[in-house]
Amino acid sequence: MAVEEKMLQQQQTVSMIDRLAANAAQAATEFRSFTQEMVDEIVKQMAIVALENHDKFARMAVEETNRGLYEDKITKNMFATEMIYHTLRTLKTVGIISENNHEGSYEIAEPVGVIAALVPVTNPTSTVIYKSLISMKTRNPIIFSFHPVSQKSGRFTAALLREAAVRAGAPENCIQWLETTTLDGINMLMKHPKVSLILATGGSGMVKAAYSSGKPAIGVGPGNVPCYFEKTANIKSSVQDLIMSKTYDNGMICASEQALIIDKEIYTEVITEMIANHCYFLNEEERKQLEKVAIKEETRFLNPMIVGLPAFKIAQMAGIEVPFDTKVLVVELEGVGPKYPLSCEKLSPVLACYKANSTEEALNLAEAILEYGGLGHTASIHTANDQIVEQYAMRMRAGRILINTPSAQGATGNVYNDLLPTLTLGTGTYGGNSVSVNVGAMHLLNIKKVAKRNNNAQILRTPPQIYYRKNSVQALEIIPDIKKAFIVTSPSSVKNGYVDKVLHFLTKRPDFVHYEVFSEVEPDPSIETVMAGAELMRHAKPNMIIALGGGSVLDAAKAMWLFYEDSEANFNTLKLKTLNPRKRVVTYPKLREKAKFIAIPTTSGTGSEVTSFAVITDKKANIKYPLSDPELLPDVAIIDPQFSMTVPKEITADTGMDVLTHALEAFVSVVANDFTDGQIIKAIQLVFKYLPRAYRDGSDELAREKMHYASTIAGLAFNNAYLGINHSLAHAVGAEFNIAHGRANAIFLPLVIRFNAVKPTKFTPFAGYEYYKADKRYAELAKMLELPARTTEEGIESLIEAVINLARELDMPLSVEECRVSQPVYESKITEMALHAVHDPDTNVNPKRPLTRELMEILRQAYKGV
Ligand SMILES: [Fe+2]
Repeated sequence: MAVEEKMLQQQQTVSMIDRLAANAAQAATEFRSFTQEMVDEIVKQMAIVALENHDKFARMAVEETNRGLYEDKITKNMFATEMIYHTLRTLKTVGIISENNHEGSYEIAEPVGVIAALVPVTNPTSTVIYKSLISMKTRNPIIFSFHPVSQKSGRFTAALLREAAVRAGAPENCIQWLETTTLDGINMLMKHPKVSLILATGGSGMVKAAYSSGKPAIGVGPGNVPCYFEKTANIKSSVQDLIMSKTYDNGMICASEQALIIDKEIYTEVITEMIANHCYFLNEEERKQLEKVAIKEETRFLNPMIVGLPAFKIAQMAGIEVPFDTKVLVVELEGVGPKYPLSCEKLSPVLACYKANSTEEALNLAEAILEYGGLGHTASIHTANDQIVEQYAMRMRAGRILINTPSAQGATGNVYNDLLPTLTLGTGTYGGNSVSVNVGAMHLLNIKKVAKRNNNAQILRTPPQIYYRKNSVQALEIIPDIKKAFIVTSPSSVKNGYVDKVLHFLTKRPDFVHYEVFSEVEPDPSIETVMAGAELMRHAKPNMIIALGGGSVLDAAKAMWLFYEDSEANFNTLKLKTLNPRKRVVTYPKLREKAKFIAIPTTSGTGSEVTSFAVITDKKANIKYPLSDPELLPDVAIIDPQFSMTVPKEITADTGMDVLTHALEAFVSVVANDFTDGQIIKAIQLVFKYLPRAYRDGSDELAREKMHYASTIAGLAFNNAYLGINHSLAHAVGAEFNIAHGRANAIFLPLVIRFNAVKPTKFTPFAGYEYYKADKRYAELAKMLELPARTTEEGIESLIEAVINLARELDMPLSVEECRVSQPVYESKITEMALHAVHDPDTNVNPKRPLTRELMEILRQAYKGV
């Protein structure tokens, strides 16, 4: 071809493709306003026309391509019309297609846009029917490229369907096709900017070209279907299925059986049955003759010349004499791959056959067949053994595994199973495809998910029983089911006689109670202490753990409980951060299988007796790890103020400020809620009123009692509303410089209130938190405490001042400097401490999401304090 002629032809192709694409784009615009009813009517009219003409289509396809069988083409066209239409009839493809009113979401279906569709020679008319129906149902204009050998039948089918569609109201150019098919033309079409999706059914070259176009593509790759006759197979029906499938349209379904693998136990019987049904087994000489005709020498793969020809004709071409009524030519092979050329896909009534000496050998062969050009497509098995089915299904890398089914009819769906009826079979990534299932209308839709804001359910957790008032420890006499008690405590509780008090009421129970005491919990309990306690519990086998002490004791006892219940539990994974404990990666062990838990606080601070938290310290790394899970919530809390009477002055102040910090943080956290607000306000009122009294006079019973309650009330609140960065920073500084928890909290409290009261650099995401309001909340609190709060700013300042005044009244340090920490050492640790605070779970619920530099700034300010 002269250069000029070639250029002219190319220009013509370009303008043809441009014109088709522009028409299609116009049709796509028109389609957007079509309703479901309009689309359904169009598809129905198309299906009727396809039905009326299915015989004509079949005849034309065979006459034009000289391949396949007229009677089977009829079936294929009927299948592509009736079965496909049946699945489309009630399918929603326009507008809202599904609704979830309960969770506030719905889905809207939209067209994908202009589709470029490739049609193979094997199904020249049925594929046109199928693709036209699914694209019209989804309001997508389609441009066909027919196989060069089947142009006429393709055009004829597409034209009749377009006519029917347009008559029923579809846009003028909803179905179009390339006037002539050239490789250049197809490539241009697939890459055209107005084309949105490629629907490619064809050989591997076509599919590869589709994926290389840079457009989203759905394609079907080639098959090389292994069919395993396992020794328990029903031989008569299996052979019939095999022949029916293998001869369907003269073998032109890519899902038909390409290699038969027969267990040695039934080999002779199967072959006898096959021969009786006109299968012809070739001898060695004949095999070589067939190979010459069926396989291209240069590629070692199938010669397209034989595709879809009857067995007799193929034999004739190979110079092999076979009876005229021969249905399938069978070649017995020893292996798979280029050395055994007939082990590839043959798309004709030629079948490879193997004898397997074991199940394992059969599975290996089937895998090798798939590997040799059929990955992702289809594999079939005939057997009565479900275990072998499972083995086969697990091992075969195929999108469809068909059991006791003619493979061709089975894979295309609906007739023998519930697979989606289709003429395009996805092969997944095994076959270089984007889908692995049977392709249908749903693959031609863009689904828009409309999701309304939906809050997760929030839960309030409280121990089932809380005893309170002076002497409420006597409840130990009546709490059910204490047989073996394990008391976790500290040396001071032993010294103060508190342990004796507990034992007194245990011994008053009608039945004898065994008990053991572990009294070595130190302040800021270590992992080692926890493990030692858990080990003792494992020997003592208690059914009730009684934690008697301050926050450290209660926390240590909770952790011991956890490792007692599950000795396999791993601290390193349990301590890992979580955004939502309900969705955490590592599940906490289920507690209460061995023992329940009673918490008796002897200080008024942590609220641990009513919370699901426990802080354990890694002493080597100077890090405090907050364990947190609803499982850790005690079963019983005994709030007996008599145990708090001996708390030293300094600790009364520290723990009291911890209570105040719990309440203030829980009040502004993003999880703060109406249920906890009331508790918090009461707790804060109690602290401001009674903490100075308890500090000044430790024997003031009323002040001690009220502070003991305030601690528990604040605990109940923050167990459900959580804390914030005040605690994150206090954890970091406390661990690094060994500053008591409450004291560290108090240093940060004025600074954190001031930080939180300024609009955030970053907001904290939480569905239940509608907008930032920490500033207003502080002011609201100030008002409730009857502090000056005419404006928000005044309220915030009044609250900060009240906190500072309280701390001063308690003689508390309000700076890190006052805790005797050297400035250079402190400065050198600021980055590290800020990072610990960033990772602290309490940071997640702070009303502002702090940046690391902002935390560093607060840490810097804390050195000199307020
Ligand atoms: Fe705390």
